[in-house]
Amino acid sequence: MADGSDWKLLLSPPEVGPDERELLIAAFDSNWVAPAGPDIDAFEEELAVLTGAPAVAALSSGTAALELALMAVGVEAGDDVLMGTLTFAASAFAASHLGARPCFVDCEPDTWHMDPNLLAEELERRAGAGSLPAAVVSVDLYGSVADGARYAAICADYDVPMVCDAAEAIGAFRNGIHAGRHGRVGILSFNGNKMVTTGGGGAIFSDDVEIVSRARYLSTQARQPVPWYEHEDIGFNYRMGNLNAAVGRGQLRTLPDRIAARRSVRARYESGLSVVDGTTFQAIPADVAPNHWLTTVAFAPESGLVPTPVLERLRDAGVEARHAFKPMHLQPVYADHPVVGGTVAEDLFDRSLSLPSGSRLTDDDVDRVCDVITSGGAA
Ligand SMILES: Cc1ncc(COP(=O)(O)O)c(C=O)c1O
Repeated sequence: MADGSDWKLLLSPPEVGPDERELLIAAFDSNWVAPAGPDIDAFEEELAVLTGAPAVAALSSGTAALELALMAVGVEAGDDVLMGTLTFAASAFAASHLGARPCFVDCEPDTWHMDPNLLAEELERRAGAGSLPAAVVSVDLYGSVADGARYAAICADYDVPMVCDAAEAIGAFRNGIHAGRHGRVGILSFNGNKMVTTGGGGAIFSDDVEIVSRARYLSTQARQPVPWYEHEDIGFNYRMGNLNAAVGRGQLRTLPDRIAARRSVRARYESGLSVVDGTTFQAIPADVAPNHWLTTVAFAPESGLVPTPVLERLRDAGVEARHAFKPMHLQPVYADHPVVGGTVAEDLFDRSLSLPSGSRLTDDDVDRVCDVITSGGAA
């Protein structure tokens, strides 16, 4: 199998330009190469403006941010943490890193997000059994935004804190509110494949300034403000570096353009694949303004299109695609973890592929991908 460098059309390559270059060189020339510096402060302020969160801390990854977010709401070893089963593994790994047990809930067939009715039923059942989870994690998938307001209302009935994993959803809004803002704490990822990359990084944000200050303190080895190395807590080395933050600042300047480009990519796939019977895409509710991170398509059984052979045909044509996320309850590492439902996510996994969605794709590129896909179907 070819490695990523051989593919001509990649799934979600970064797009960096003169803004990132200028800010990175300025940071370099100023000698602020340490995990401290003015670009980190500025990046955090700019993220606060974008998300509307009063407090933001820039960290080394989205996974690190999620770990600190779960700790901030009190998750400890032995606790259960509920989340949608259709997600990237890092959502669950963060809970596992703390010694907690991720427990899974099926998703809705149209939006692909955690099913709020199942969440409500499960919290009611657990309240009755005296086994409420320590936290619920809401995940925004593929650049869309889950119904965080609804989840938050359900969680509030049981006084269970909610953490929002908006790793994939920077710049995406629901009802004018940025992804991740309905939880007590939210997180973002700046991984290389995300809409804003710092080469690797993440952020935690909250209305609660104390939560973010503590995350910042823990992320820098929990150093006490005294002239010697004094520690009252176990710390982490999770802070973002200043050079990374400089790149992130450049990425924020051009984020609206990249979202617009990815929106066009999705629209062109929708029209190019409309010839295939029963093809659907992740449904975007009317009040959601997504960032269109990854266009992901579900083929209907009658189309004759099945993800693995389509993926192989695309690969042979120099196109990188991916199966939709394999549900967490099907992952060998979580085989014995509880799941509520699961067949909706399993069905989506069986039928769906994420397609190249980068902001530099041309109309011809997207047409080529559609041609390769449709050349093997019953259409
Ligand atoms: C839903 C989700 N959560 C968490 C993460 C982890 O972010 P990072 O790769 O920055 O650790 C990712 C992406 O990588 C993700 O897609």
